[in-house]
Formats: sequence, structure tokens, C-alpha cells
Amino acid sequence: MNRWSKLGDIGRPQCLRRGRGSSYVKYLFVGATMVLALLPPVVRAQDIEGGKAVFKKCAACHNADTEANKVGPSLKGVVGRTAGTALGYSYSKAMKDMGAAGLVWDEPNLMEYLANPKAKVPANKMGFPGLKNPDDVKNVIAYLKSVSG
Ligand code: HEC
Repeated sequence: MNRWSKLGDIGRPQCLRRGRGSSYVKYLFVGATMVLALLPPVVRAQDIEGGKAVFKKCAACHNADTEANKVGPSLKGVVGRTAGTALGYSYSKAMKDMGAAGLVWDEPNLMEYLANPKAKVPANKMGFPGLKNPDDVKNVIAYLKSVSG
């Protein structure tokens, strides 16, 4: 007996366990499956829309859809990029050193940086206090991914 065999009947959907006459259960099961199948893309689209609105706070200093640098470096393709490596941008020593030490802007590192830039990269020169709402951070990352292609 392995540890799964206990689950036996529980793992099987209702509609297969009962015979005919329980069709409402079947519809429930099919309905739930459809909702689950539809859910992730819908949530993602909302995240991107939300992130686009949040990005207005960043847009004074950053482009996300072109490689042009502004006061801050271009954020096109920033998700997955090593810190301090946008072409032609003059970073602070702090940011270049973090990149040289191996900091890559994956999602967990971006979450930390955007919540509190000065804590994640002390002495970096981004003049922005950070985003207080974790949902804003999550959404702006979804937006950055969506425009970076
Ligand atoms: C007032 C201008 C300003 C605002 C507003 C701002 N940033 Fe920045 N950002 C900068 C500067 C300047 C740097 C470069 C920091 C350095 O070299 O130390 C930077 C760096 C970054 C980096 C690191 C990029 C790299 O190539 O290593 C990320 C990611 C980033 N900003 C994201 C954002 C996001 C997202 C927002 C909005 C929520 C935002 N920033 C708002 C000025 C700003």
C-alpha cells in the first residue's frame, strides 16, 4: 500500500463515482473546470492593465517600450536583466556594483527593490520612495513583462 492508495475514491470526480441521475454534479464539475481554465489569463490581463496605471508613476523617469534612457534607464526587457546594464545609461556606482556582484532583476528581486529601492540597493540614485501596495508592485512587473516582449 503506497501513500496514494488511501486517496483512492476521493481523488475521483463525483460524476464518475455515482451512476446516472447526478447530472447536476456533472455540470458543476464541468463548470468548475471551465472557470479554472479561464481564470489565469483573465487575472493576468487585469494585472497588466493595473500595472499600466501604476507605471504612470515611473514614466517621468523611465521608458518601458523603447530603449531610450531618460532620467532613469530604459526598462524595456528589464525583467531577467542584470542590474546596471541598460546600454548607454550612466548608473550610480552602487547599482553597477550590485550588477557586478550578480544581482539580476528577476521577479523576487524586483518585488523587493520596488517596495523599497534604498533598502535593496543602498545608495542607488533612483529618486523614488517605492510602492507601498504589494499588488501595485506585482502589477507593474506584469506590465513591464508585457511591453518587453
Ligand atoms: C524620479 C525618477 C524615477 C522614478 C519616478 C522611478 N525611477 Fe526607477 N530609476 C531611476 C534612476 C535614476 C535609476 C538608476 C539608479 C542608479 O543608477 O543607481 C532607476 C533604476 C531603476 C531600476 C533598475 C534598472 C537597471 O537597469 O538596473 C528599476 C528596475 C527601476 N528603476 C524601476 C522603476 C519603476 C518600476 C518605477 C515606478 C514604480 C520607477 N523605477 C520610478 C529613476 C526613477
